[in-house]
Amino acid sequence: MPNLHRRAFLGLTGAAGAGVAAAIAGFSDAPAWADPSFADNPFTLGVASGDPLPDGVVLWTRLAPDPLAVDGLGGMPRRVVPVTWQVAEDERFRRVVRAGADRATPELGHSVHVEVSRLRPDREYYYRFRVGNQLSPVGRTRTAPAYGADRRRLSFGFVSCQNLPAGYFTAYRHMAEEDLDLVLHLGDYIYEGPSAGTIGRAHLPATEIFSLADYRIRHSQYKTDADLQLAHARFPWAVTWDDHEVENNYADGTSEDAAQSPEDFLRRRAVAYQAYYEHMPLRRISIPHGPDMRLYRRLRYGNLAEFNILDGRQYRSDQVPTGSDDPSRTMLGNAQEKWLLDGMSASRARWNVLGNQTVIAEADRDPGPGKTLSDDNWSGYPAARQRLFDGVVERRVENMVVVTGDAHCSMVAELKQNFDDQSSRTVGVEFLGTSITSGGDGADMDGRGTEWLASNPHMKFYNAKRGYVRCQLDHRQWRTDYRVVPFVTEQGAPVSTRASFVVESGRPGVQVDTTEA
Ligand SMILES: [Fe+2]
Repeated sequence: MPNLHRRAFLGLTGAAGAGVAAAIAGFSDAPAWADPSFADNPFTLGVASGDPLPDGVVLWTRLAPDPLAVDGLGGMPRRVVPVTWQVAEDERFRRVVRAGADRATPELGHSVHVEVSRLRPDREYYYRFRVGNQLSPVGRTRTAPAYGADRRRLSFGFVSCQNLPAGYFTAYRHMAEEDLDLVLHLGDYIYEGPSAGTIGRAHLPATEIFSLADYRIRHSQYKTDADLQLAHARFPWAVTWDDHEVENNYADGTSEDAAQSPEDFLRRRAVAYQAYYEHMPLRRISIPHGPDMRLYRRLRYGNLAEFNILDGRQYRSDQVPTGSDDPSRTMLGNAQEKWLLDGMSASRARWNVLGNQTVIAEADRDPGPGKTLSDDNWSGYPAARQRLFDGVVERRVENMVVVTGDAHCSMVAELKQNFDDQSSRTVGVEFLGTSITSGGDGADMDGRGTEWLASNPHMKFYNAKRGYVRCQLDHRQWRTDYRVVPFVTEQGAPVSTRASFVVESGRPGVQVDTTEA
């Protein structure tokens, strides 16, 4: 499939594709700006770090003195700009341990992705950038433990679905106060729709986005949010996307809009993927090639956890009316599906974590004998889910925990090898995390929650408030705390723990935890 896409794409766009390819190789057509100076702060989008390894992390920023400029160029000239960076052991940069220089090119929107190496494992570091006379905010990050190291504890957060017009990102301000090793973002980092909402956070551009300039402006608008910047600056993140980074409910090369031709949609997917890469702390392996971009990958935390960060959009079969057991239908694509099962069976970590897009537990909304299932989550791809669950059993994968976004609610489920037989084996546990803002203020319960709990005995909890999820792991148990805010359409909401759950290592299943965090 990717080759077909690439041929179609290059045939259609020619020179534009070649320009990005040149920038990828480290070249730029643009002249150098040897001695840049700025009247306005170019670090309006903040800083970020991501994808920790035992010896390094990715450091990210993007130069944009005028972040919402209508041409999508962030107020930058068409020049190659030298940017320097420092990594220190202390917040005041008295003990700088690494430093270097990079080039921000107009082909990649003057974004900067530095892959720092030769750091020490399992350590906290501080980083910053300098361009000309301007210094960036300081970010804090943390390397992963050495491979195989005996890591006793791990604390991470996961989030999804941050629709800017729908509310304030207060949950991020609270999450920034936590003590976390890592944050997973599971998708819907931006929304592609037009201007919306009533709280003064309407989308820019005001129309649905299609062009590279459009996607750059939209990402920039989201990134200017102070709470989001704070959360990025506090922890390393590992990001993946769902649909709205491109278009609602797209599948592989197919738009949900029949009026959009496959060629037009792939062109759109290419610019959306490029803008996503430009705004995220991702490694070189994720540099887009036309409409293709490798995003699935694995992060290891010593002998305690492995994170399989999935891409459930780029390779999936198109949605069909549910009930299709066609075995050729796929959620992850053959290559990623094999990579996932091979990786989990080779894993020697206590916990095998899946960073997943859409609900994987069967989620029936019909309390009667029939089933009403979504066609966009794993329940619309039953053969693919069965292959994964059967593979987990056959390969004796233990302690699989799936963390999921997309649904704008919190839910906890035991994953059954056969959802029609509740006495069948539990192959893992799913923690579905609610949205940061999507859906507005939210409530404890709603119609879908009532239907889900009545129809799916493997589901143990439902809540439709907004927030983030905190997970604390050791070798004995996994603890999940649902951290929720009572409202998002006004600023200043407090945070509280709505419910907590525990999974004991080696004992598939989940229990409610009533002890205080
Ligand atoms: Fe969403």
